Amino acid sequence: MKISRFVGFVLLLVVLSNCNRAISEDTSYKFDPSLEPKVSEIVNSLSLDEKVSLFYGNGKFWSAGIERLGIDEVQYADGPLGIREELERHSWSPAGWTTDSATFFPAGGGLSATWNTDLAYEYGSAMGAEARARNKDYLLAPAVNIQRSPLGGRNYEYFSEDPVLNSNIAVPMIKGIQSQDVAATIKHYAINNQETRRGSIDVQASERAIREIYLPVYKAAVQEADVYSVMCSYNRFRGPYVCENEYLLRDILKGEWGFKGTVMSDWGATHSTVESALYGLDISMGNGGEGTYHETYFGDPLAKAVQDGDVPQSVVDDMASRVVRVLLNVKKNDPTRKTGSINTPEHSELVYKVASESIVLLKNEANLLPLSTSELNSIAVIGDNATQTLSSGGFGAGVKVVYEVTPLEGLKNRLPNVEINYAKGYDETYERNGFMRSPAFKGDPSLVAEAVELAKNSEYALVFIGGNRLVESEASDRTTMELPFGQAELVKAVTAANPNTIVVMVAGTPFDLREIEPTTSSFVWSWFNGSEAGNAIADVLIGTVNPSGKLPFTIPEKLEDSPAHATNSFPGNETEVVYEEDILVGYRWFDTKNIDPKYPFGFGLSYSTFKYGSPKINKTRFSANDVLEITIPVTNTGDKDGKEIVQAYVRADKSGVMRPAKELKGFTKVSVNAGKTVSSTITFDIKDLAYFNESTMSWVVEPGDYTILIGSSSRDIREEIAIVVE
Ligand code: BGC
Repeated sequence: MKISRFVGFVLLLVVLSNCNRAISEDTSYKFDPSLEPKVSEIVNSLSLDEKVSLFYGNGKFWSAGIERLGIDEVQYADGPLGIREELERHSWSPAGWTTDSATFFPAGGGLSATWNTDLAYEYGSAMGAEARARNKDYLLAPAVNIQRSPLGGRNYEYFSEDPVLNSNIAVPMIKGIQSQDVAATIKHYAINNQETRRGSIDVQASERAIREIYLPVYKAAVQEADVYSVMCSYNRFRGPYVCENEYLLRDILKGEWGFKGTVMSDWGATHSTVESALYGLDISMGNGGEGTYHETYFGDPLAKAVQDGDVPQSVVDDMASRVVRVLLNVKKNDPTRKTGSINTPEHSELVYKVASESIVLLKNEANLLPLSTSELNSIAVIGDNATQTLSSGGFGAGVKVVYEVTPLEGLKNRLPNVEINYAKGYDETYERNGFMRSPAFKGDPSLVAEAVELAKNSEYALVFIGGNRLVESEASDRTTMELPFGQAELVKAVTAANPNTIVVMVAGTPFDLREIEPTTSSFVWSWFNGSEAGNAIADVLIGTVNPSGKLPFTIPEKLEDSPAHATNSFPGNETEVVYEEDILVGYRWFDTKNIDPKYPFGFGLSYSTFKYGSPKINKTRFSANDVLEITIPVTNTGDKDGKEIVQAYVRADKSGVMRPAKELKGFTKVSVNAGKTVSSTITFDIKDLAYFNESTMSWVVEPGDYTILIGSSSRDIREEIAIVVE
């Protein structure tokens, strides 16, 4: 009786909300306020035991539903590279299914390097559909921590060093995921920027740094995308662990920002019962095992804490409301819920699109690229990264794929009539350090000799180097930016043997390029780029795709130039890390301190060239509530159709406080056909010019002079516009 009434009620609401949707924009990603009476009704009907059962994992990726009300168990899956393969209920071992393959989506770095917010939405929506096809309720994505150091082990999963690019990719991705009736779980909240001692490190960062750099993406996710869930991270912040951090969870996230969804612990990141419940954790995951889950923090101990009066009933009611709210909003057990789709040709096409827009052309000095296919006879493909699959590995989440096209396969697909020979060039070898592994740096001279021989006898040599899923890994940071496995020696030897050598980096984080840069005339950056990675890189190399990606991070000349290392504050000591560079993260540091990077943030070439015309601005004197709009004509002066990412930075010309030399405020990606001019528009709020004032604990837009810098990268500013804020 109860079950059918519940379903009927939800059905009615769905019909109503679908009508609304048809007449306005698709807001299905949002919390639906009309479900609130039902949330209260359900929560009021639950016993304490029923409530408590909702708050902890009772399997690695499961938690209880409410059987009595016909609500099934809740299922979770990693993201963020695609829907993770099924694991055994009580262990990290694969469950051995044959029906749990999924599309491998380009990792975070690749998605953000597209700077394409529409693609980010489609990406989220396709990933959400795959999660639904595997019957998941929560997708543990996106992963958005700021790339504070080039050594960060999980940089490849993350989007950027810049909070504005970060938010502009995360927000549409979350909307896309949630449009499929699955909860996005933005992670890892917060200020979790290293893997070294991630489970205990206490992060000290100034209020200004957290507000201006580390928190904006979460705030945007809550306020612009109505994200349903937030995963709290392993680290401590200013003392307490994040998952029991009153300031981060209760005051900021749920208080200031008004977050209405669930705070979920990272796996094993809960450390207490009473504090965690009081300070804002709702779901504790990753503790206990078969038969013992209920003994952990949010199981029996929480029920007892409520009975003893240590945790007020109102707190568990609020926690239960959040859990139920998310379940109703994803339409759990509602027959109209989307059922998703997985491994479809459409998803393959999408990951191809993302991958091909993500690839960054760094250098093309000898105009070797694009390869002229009509005159091409032979290519030497060199390097283990030409044949590496990247969908799983290391400590991080993996995807069981139906297929993954490697660069070597991609080139063979696209160039069936060209003689393509392969030489491995280097072996990936590791030194063991407990259960962690660190890459060896020496190469194998015999593999180099073989590669050199092949390069000599081919018209072109394509050398694929960089990281992989063990070099860049969850649970450890790299110890150096050096290229691993003797890759630098390999590149130098191959380039000396054949000047027609093109180097392709496959990596999600900066490497030290000093050794190979001087002799490398042609340089391309690819990513852990999904199932279609090989086809995408092949199409860029032969020019079927005109590269249009730009770097979402700075590649420093050397590690010591980058902010966390220049200030000797990465990864901190045994207990604590102090973010000494403060707000000067990424290019903010390089530009303010006048340090030349190897390749700047926002940089990327095309096979075309783009000329910027004089920008037009809606006005030059603004008040704090205004919106600024700039239109910039962009002319493709080359002979290939292409895409350009126009970036708007702002400099505060006079300020009462330290301001970075420039900060990204907006960008747009435009398609411009050869010889044509397209007008591009960037808008942002004058409010976005604010800095965070630590003494008043508020955002302040200082009146005065500002300069808008319109550029093709952070270091290639084409136009400047002076404005005044009154
Ligand atoms: C990672 C999370 C992940 C979780 C579940 C943790 O180790 O930090 O990103 O979602 O495991 O696999």
